[in-house]
Amino acid sequence: GKRIGVLTSGGDAPGMNAAVRAIVRVAISRGCEAYAIFEGYEGLVQGGKMIRKFGWADVRGYLAIGGTLIGTARCKSFRERSGRLDAACNLVKNGIDALIVCGGDGSLTGADILRKEWPGLIEELIQNGKLTVEEADPYKHLTIVGLVGSIDNDMPSTDVTIGAVTSLHRICEAVDSISSTASSHSRAFVIEVMGRRCGWLALMAAISTGADFVFIPERPPSENWEAEMCDVIKRHRQLGKRRTIVIVAEGAIDRNLNPIKPDYIKELLIKKPLELDTRVTTLGHTQRGGRPCAYDRNLATIQGVEAVNAVLESTPDTPSPMIGVNENKITSEPLLRAVELTHQVAEAISKQDFRRAMELRDPEFAD
Ligand code: F6P
Repeated sequence: GKRIGVLTSGGDAPGMNAAVRAIVRVAISRGCEAYAIFEGYEGLVQGGKMIRKFGWADVRGYLAIGGTLIGTARCKSFRERSGRLDAACNLVKNGIDALIVCGGDGSLTGADILRKEWPGLIEELIQNGKLTVEEADPYKHLTIVGLVGSIDNDMPSTDVTIGAVTSLHRICEAVDSISSTASSHSRAFVIEVMGRRCGWLALMAAISTGADFVFIPERPPSENWEAEMCDVIKRHRQLGKRRTIVIVAEGAIDRNLNPIKPDYIKELLIKKPLELDTRVTTLGHTQRGGRPCAYDRNLATIQGVEAVNAVLESTPDTPSPMIGVNENKITSEPLLRAVELTHQVAEAISKQDFRRAMELRDPEFAD
């Protein structure tokens, strides 16, 4: 059987534990060995106690717990070739020939780089005496499988990433709480939500809480948005609304790519014509922590099963797959293609081609 390593990397996401649990248990039930690599790529670079064989019972209770119990890191050393050299050496020394990475686009890019460099890294390890030819011989090929774990839901080619739905629930609850105090005082709240360069959390939260206005990176507002926003809010107030909620994605930008910041929106709301008593709330990491919702537990579990299947089916010629979900079906597509799409989205936004960015995120947007 194969020896399958699993690590979680980048920002933690609720449901990552469910993925690790599924991978470990499916690996064992298929006659493979499972290894947990602690602290993301950091553990791979350091080796030693950071790489531990996991048994069935080691993942007991994992389903319901938020964050990632095997730890994560935004690892700098893995970005250097020397770090990847140590990582390759540790994999071979532990007999690990397949690696399942659960993380965001940066983490999956790292995984793909490791796979591409693999033969060269092994060669170099033999040359500088870190590995013998005999030791390295069974490890000519490294199987990599990616799972997308991120609250941001910023990966094209999958409908939803592990953790995004839980985070959205958390944001909704927070906005609901804010709403009751806002209407009591007839106040306005500007609420900043996470998402990095992606507006999914902000947009979905705005729809599901009936917010008055939302700012997202993919669709900057019109040139005179300040006046438009005030008009909309004035109209809502005239209709009898006692609370005003403006949701701002942390990556929100205007048409000239300048950030739109909550404090600036607050300034607009407190002055004439609205003169609203306004507060700013940054939801911060409450959005990322806590128990995963049922959807994320199940998504992570099914994708974990599929990731082990992909390891067992892979051949040296198949490109590393990324497991996604599209129209409710678990899908698998080349990791590299998915990662490339994320770069294209960033490029489209930097060229102010916002429509293209939306189309890349969701091809149906073009229709
Ligand atoms: O990618 C997940 C995320 O929570 C983003 O939404 C946010 O921009 C970032 O991570 C925050 O990172 P950190 O926890 O390192 O401050």
